[in-house]
Amino acid sequence: MLHFNWSTPPTMRTHQVSQRARTRTAVFANSKGGVGKSTLALLTCLGLATRDTLARIELIDIDVQSTSSESLKKFANDRFSVINDDDMFLASGSPNNGNIVNHIDSLPHVKNQNSFLVFDSPAGNEPEKCSFLRKCDVIFVPTSLSDADVSATTRYLLALRRLFQCPPETSLEVPQPAVIILPNMVDSREESNELRRIFSDRPVYFGEPLYFSKLFRKAFRDEFQDNNVKRLLQANQWYIDWITNLIFNSEKLRRPPTGFHQL
Ligand SMILES: Nc1ncnc2c1ncn2[C@@H]1O[C@H](COP(=O)(O)OP(=O)(O)OP(=O)(O)O)[C@@H](O)[C@H]1O
Ligand SMILES: [Mg+2]
Repeated sequence: MLHFNWSTPPTMRTHQVSQRARTRTAVFANSKGGVGKSTLALLTCLGLATRDTLARIELIDIDVQSTSSESLKKFANDRFSVINDDDMFLASGSPNNGNIVNHIDSLPHVKNQNSFLVFDSPAGNEPEKCSFLRKCDVIFVPTSLSDADVSATTRYLLALRRLFQCPPETSLEVPQPAVIILPNMVDSREESNELRRIFSDRPVYFGEPLYFSKLFRKAFRDEFQDNNVKRLLQANQWYIDWITNLIFNSEKLRRPPTGFHQL
C-alpha cells in the first residue's frame, strides 16, 4: 500500500515546464560496488517526483540485484514507473545497449510535461560494454574517500573518457554526457576537499558532498507510512534540490569541461 505523499513539500517548488519538454536521462554508475549508486538513484527519483509534480519519471534498474527497483516499485503510479526488465540485459549480465537505446528513443514527448529517465547500474560494469551511456545527459559517479573507491573511480573515469572520445574534427560539435563525481559518505568538508584535491588534475565536474548519515541504512526497508523515506527526503532536501537542478539544467553541462570544474 502506498503511503508516500507525492505532493510538493513546502520548501520545494514545482519546476517550470519547458514548452520544449524533452526526456532527460541520468545514470548512476561506477565499476566499484557499495559507493551509493542505488541510494542516490532512489533519492533522485523521489526528489524529481516531489519537485515536479507533473513530470513522468522512469527508474530503469540494470542491476540484477534490483536494489533500487525493489524498494521503489511500491511508489509506482501513472507517472512513475520502475523497470527491471530482462530485455534490458544480455545473458552475460551486461546491459542490452540496443534495447536500452530503443527504449530511450521510443519515449513519447508529451507537450508541457517533463520526463526523466534514471538508471541505476551494477558494480563491475565496464563503460566499453555500455555504449548506451553515450545517449545520456548526465553520468553521476559516486565515490567515497576510501582508497579502493578512489582508485576504482579513477579507472572508471578514464574508461568513460575513452568511450566518449570522438574524432578531433567532430569533438566540438557532438554533445557528450556530463560526467559528475559525487563525493559520498564523507564525514566532513575536509574529507570532501581531500577528494577534490585527488581529482583536481582531471577534466571533470565535481559535485557537492553527501555526508555519511545513519538514515541511509534504512533507505530501502518497508516502514510504516514510509516514514524512513520521508525522513531521508527531509534531511537531504538541500542536496536533492541541488542534484535535481543539475538534471533539469543538464543541457548546459553537455560540453566536457576543459579542466576540473567544481559545481
Ligand atoms: N551518504 C551515506 N551515508 C551512509 N550510508 C550510505 C550513504 N550512501 C550510501 N550508504 C550505504 O552504503 C551502502 C551501499 O550503498 P548502495 O547500495 O547505494 O551502493 P551501490 O553503489 O548501489 O552498491 P552496489 O554496487 O552493490 O549496487 C548501503 O548500505 C547504503 O545504505
Ligand atoms: Mg546498487
